[in-house]
Amino acid sequence: MNKQQIIDILNDNSKNQEIFALADKVRHENVGDSVHLRGLIEFSDICRCDCLYCGLRCSNKTADRYRINKDEIVSIARNAVSIGYKTIVLQSGEDLFYNTDTICEIIRKIKSMDVAVTLSIGEKTYDEYKAYKVVGADRYLLRIETTDVNLYKTMHPNVSFENRIKCLENLKSLGYEVGTGCLVGLPNQTVDSLADDILFFKALDADMVGIGPFIPHKQTPLKDSVSGSFDLALKVMALTRIKMPNINIPATTAMEVINPNGRIIALQSGANVVMPNVTPEIYRTKYEIYPGKNNICDELEQARLEIENKIKSIKRAVSQDYGNRRK
Ligand code: 5AD
Repeated sequence: MNKQQIIDILNDNSKNQEIFALADKVRHENVGDSVHLRGLIEFSDICRCDCLYCGLRCSNKTADRYRINKDEIVSIARNAVSIGYKTIVLQSGEDLFYNTDTICEIIRKIKSMDVAVTLSIGEKTYDEYKAYKVVGADRYLLRIETTDVNLYKTMHPNVSFENRIKCLENLKSLGYEVGTGCLVGLPNQTVDSLADDILFFKALDADMVGIGPFIPHKQTPLKDSVSGSFDLALKVMALTRIKMPNINIPATTAMEVINPNGRIIALQSGANVVMPNVTPEIYRTKYEIYPGKNNICDELEQARLEIENKIKSIKRAVSQDYGNRRK
């Protein structure tokens, strides 16, 4: 599939079901039927960035900000591990309060629980990424968000596209499994640039790719924009699976927010990962990147059971291993 073919498929809605079915087949043949569950801890919603679409942007003065201290982060991780999670994802806003030593201490303690650790804490220096890797971090998530440089600049004031790319290259060279991804349906985003996004994932040889529809947040400059389309986001995801047969692809929470069965549909259109939120509710409700995300999960064990049952209902199995990329 070259760029023009990707564009044509994205513009033509008459063959969507075939595309989704093909992506499902490619997923089945290359990564099998098990679904990897990752326990997501949102440990701080304080952020120095000002991304126009994000509810955590520093200009949003109405956001209720919190930080979870390192002992509590470790104990949340321990609870998640005790009910079966094999990967812990540590996510936060770009909060400089947690220095390298603190992050490393948290990683070390969680790694001693015999699980994979994924970080999703934004743009850092090469040396910081290296320090986290040395103490055992396995994976890193950093979405490119969009490869349209002009759109990137409009959406992300005071940061550079070039540095984002540099961060992804640094993470790759340090031996992380690298996750990236994009938003679908940002104002002024073109189908042409979505095709470039898919080609970018391939060129980077990303190990994981997370794709979700843009959802407008009331306390951001994009409050009056329309949501991204579920079908278009699903198609970008399906095409990514077809292009990259053996990577890990999450059925993202944003998919579930704009379609009540979104994650299951995604799992049947190329995805093989789900990231249930294991953050205690008192914090989780404050971590509002976009509205609606906190209606989805309940208490820790109940949330796990619910998603396990859904996975079994579509004849898929819950993975018992760490869920690294299959090479
Ligand atoms: N709608 C959908 N996804 C969003 N993200 C941030 N804001 C929004 C929004 N309004 C996504 C970004 C980020 C991830 C953690 O959440 O892609 O990388």
